[in-house]
Amino acid sequence: MKGIILAGGSGSRLYPLTAVTSKQLLLPVYDKPMVYYPLSTLMLAGIRDILIISTPSDLPNFERLLGDGSDYGIRLSYAEQPSPDGLAQAFVIGKEFTEGCPCALALGDNIFYGNGLGKRLRLATASASAGRSTIFGYRVDDPERFGVVEFDEDYNVISIEERPAQPKSSYAVTGLYFFPADACERAAQVVPSARNEYEITDLIRMYLDEGLLDTITLGRGFAWLDTGTMESLYEASAFVRTVERAQDLLVSVPEEIAFANGWITRERLLECAERYDKSDYGHHLRDVAEGKVAPDRHFDQ
Ligand code: DAU
Repeated sequence: MKGIILAGGSGSRLYPLTAVTSKQLLLPVYDKPMVYYPLSTLMLAGIRDILIISTPSDLPNFERLLGDGSDYGIRLSYAEQPSPDGLAQAFVIGKEFTEGCPCALALGDNIFYGNGLGKRLRLATASASAGRSTIFGYRVDDPERFGVVEFDEDYNVISIEERPAQPKSSYAVTGLYFFPADACERAAQVVPSARNEYEITDLIRMYLDEGLLDTITLGRGFAWLDTGTMESLYEASAFVRTVERAQDLLVSVPEEIAFANGWITRERLLECAERYDKSDYGHHLRDVAEGKVAPDRHFDQ
């Protein structure tokens, strides 16, 4: 299973914050760069081979921040998206990278949190390997801002629509998608929409039409935050701060997930801790390495 983080776009709704930098890279969500959150999500799904797609100007900085992935026991590759022509383009750009493997796509500005998340993500990973795709639904007050999924009474998906004027349900399609091995082939068949974008919903609909789509709804106890606007960016930071202070630990720390998954050694974790020594992040890594933070306090292996 492979993974793609799509972290491009102009970020125009966050101007002037994003006038000279990528929001996923340099805008913090409380105490970490935004990209740490989708990276953690994919790692919790058990994915170790990840492609980061961003704009030609931002990509070198992503590479400086995250490197080749060895700090996290994973392999990171990088690819440019010259212009933000739509989410489905990730699978056109990522064709060589996926090498015909099943692949998950995480939007660089989506944050997921909740007990039992890892288990659900790994179910989606297994399903993608078995030829099915999975999306995650989340109830919202303003579904018209998102992709919207409609269910029958047994929670089977009936329809998916992108930003509908009259939403058929209150369930948004979140920015995390698991696809089987043929996603790149199918993405190549997607044509630009009325707003001139290669829509991810058109790709998802291909699986829906063939009865190959599953939805996992994330209910009470889960938080999904899309940090696309100034207000939601602020709320995401406030949320992460509240969770971290309440539990006296950090969340979405890639090095910690790597260590819990057995992907890096304690020595490597301590090296990383040393690098960030004076920060809370460094202290947290050291606490994890010294066994002061029990993995079962926040991992649902
Ligand atoms: O957040 C979930 C929503 O994400 C879904 O409900 C929608 O179905 C999906 O279309 C998407 O809607 P957004 O309004 O959030 O899409 P946006 O154009 O803002 O792009 C999402 C992120 O992806 C954003 O950080 C920019 C980045 N992006 C976007 C496009 C279109 C790229 O990197 N490249 C692109 O071509």
